Amino acid sequence: MTYETIAVTKLNPILGAEIDGVDLSKPLSERQVAEIRQAWMEHVVVVFRDQTLTVEQHLDFGRLFGELHLHPASLQPDAHPEILVVHADENSTRVAGEDWHTDVSCEEEPPMGSLLYMSEVPPDGGGDTLFSSMYAAYETLSDPIKKMLAGMTAIHDGKAVYDRPGYREDKKFPRAEHPVVRTHPETGRQALFVNRVFTTEIVGLNRDESDAILQMLYRHVETPELMMRLRWKPGSLVCWDNRCAQHRALWDYFPNRRHGERVTVKGDKPYYRSDTASAKAEDSKTSAPRAPKLYSLRPRG
Ligand code: SIN
Repeated sequence: MTYETIAVTKLNPILGAEIDGVDLSKPLSERQVAEIRQAWMEHVVVVFRDQTLTVEQHLDFGRLFGELHLHPASLQPDAHPEILVVHADENSTRVAGEDWHTDVSCEEEPPMGSLLYMSEVPPDGGGDTLFSSMYAAYETLSDPIKKMLAGMTAIHDGKAVYDRPGYREDKKFPRAEHPVVRTHPETGRQALFVNRVFTTEIVGLNRDESDAILQMLYRHVETPELMMRLRWKPGSLVCWDNRCAQHRALWDYFPNRRHGERVTVKGDKPYYRSDTASAKAEDSKTSAPRAPKLYSLRPRG
């Protein structure tokens, strides 16, 4: 797609782009929204700099991409339950998202995307967020491993994460079974869909087998070449697609402060459709086919 209303600059070969030429505090045209969505789907993580947004404007921007999600275990400000506050300072004992994950993958219908607006960054640097492309993670697996994973499912359990004092006194934690490889509902591409924080086991394997395969996949997800590292500035808004990216927040700035607010957009039930079935479905559509983009890592000796 040629962009007419925004400027899109890639930040990394594998994922990430900066979008310029748009003020998100102003009403956006249909064309602008379509182009932003297109750039987001194409680049997985998109970054807007120098934005000044009220909470309402942030929420309104999120709503352009779907219904907003309520976090199952967060202490949201009463007035805006759809806002997830991401805050750390000298009194913090933990921060959100400190290990590799996709947001709330323990739900039956995990969020499609998250939009984090950062208003305060640590004065001496730090507090970057790492993102890893799950398209690239899947595509750089060897064919025998891809064949083995096709059709496998895994359990994602919220208990491991949310069973803490002050969180969900009712002890009702979301738990779901999802395909290990999911087909992206908008691009048709395959993405690896297991993460360290929520995935507890691969269904149908014994414990040792499941642990070994999950550990191998987690290490693969953390391959530096699959990643981008985002340096925040005050006024940055970053959108990531949870269906094809994992992220990890770095807490290397204690005792300094970092403050942001996240709006999360609801998603749908993950599914796996084989490449052959996906290609047939694409062919039957009238719109232009979205060619899969295949990554390969530099050959290693
Ligand atoms: C999160 O997982 O949403 C937090 C990300 C961050 O603070 O960088």
